[in-house]
Amino acid sequence: MRTTIKDIAAKTNLSVTTVSLVLNNKPSKISQKTKELVLKTAKELHYRPNQLAVGLIKKRTKTIGLIVSDIRNNFFSSLAKGIEDECRRNGWTLILCNTSDNHQRDIEYIHVLASKSVDGILYCMSVDSTRENFQKSYDLLGALNIPFVMIDRSYPMPNRAIVRLDHIRGGYMATQHLLELGHKRIACVTGPNYLEDSRDRLDGYKKALMEAGIVFDESLIFEGGYDMGSGINAVHSLIGKDFSAIFAFNDMMAYGVYKGLKAHGLCVPADISVIGYDDIFLSEILEVPLTTIKQPIELMGCAATKKLISIIEHEPLGGDTTIFEPELIVRKSTTAYPQN
Ligand code: RIB
Repeated sequence: MRTTIKDIAAKTNLSVTTVSLVLNNKPSKISQKTKELVLKTAKELHYRPNQLAVGLIKKRTKTIGLIVSDIRNNFFSSLAKGIEDECRRNGWTLILCNTSDNHQRDIEYIHVLASKSVDGILYCMSVDSTRENFQKSYDLLGALNIPFVMIDRSYPMPNRAIVRLDHIRGGYMATQHLLELGHKRIACVTGPNYLEDSRDRLDGYKKALMEAGIVFDESLIFEGGYDMGSGINAVHSLIGKDFSAIFAFNDMMAYGVYKGLKAHGLCVPADISVIGYDDIFLSEILEVPLTTIKQPIELMGCAATKKLISIIEHEPLGGDTTIFEPELIVRKSTTAYPQN
């Protein structure tokens, strides 16, 4: 049976008002001795405030919902860690929802989080979020009047707050690294073309090629879905074409590229150089450690959480964007061309 304020009042022979003032740390003339008695008794009885009751009074539950699209991808588990650490620092609770890249679940979880009376939502939309799908999420969040901050993926919308990386710069840096190694025929495994974050990486790739005087060759571009299978399928599709390097738009697809190349008897980097994107924790410990573009994932999660709490506590800030800078992490999966 859950301990209530009345139980503590009965045990200490104090009024419910006195106990409530102490437990809610309200200013009062209550003696230190009495305060200590209440707190000691509350601990003995394992008292926990009823968050929903608190929420009804303060109209706040100090709970944030996080919607991510693929918890198997360490990008999202690292993101969740950065967010949860910031929530704990501020005394907030986090509810994590994984949509497995199915937009219908984005909608379902927005409803679930609303029913849990979360004060706000951090939202990295599923990979199948076309503009019309995202519009449904955006309209629902507005209808439910739930403050939210987008993380990484989104579409331009009024009053949209978003935290993301400069993906044009990230795509440019990855390509520039391969060009500096002498590669001229660089294949790409992209995310879905309708996602802004993938299009930006491709724009950075094209910018670097153009500056190097290399003509963009559409036949070297394979549209993936940010999953490892896309990397494997990309290699099967690209084999036979003339290329010496592959830029995978995230590390999970780069791992698939490794598998695909191995299936075709090709070695990394001796035959094909590979660069990824995200720098999730496995990339460093692979047999051939992956060269990649680092996203400060936990820092982005922390920044998004700070922004959302600020919007919740101080009124909507309206649309604003926080952009982080990418970092090139050179490991063993890229080498000079010609490789041998
Ligand atoms: O790995 C998941 C990808 O989805 C990341 O690159 C991130 O930017 C998100 O778009």
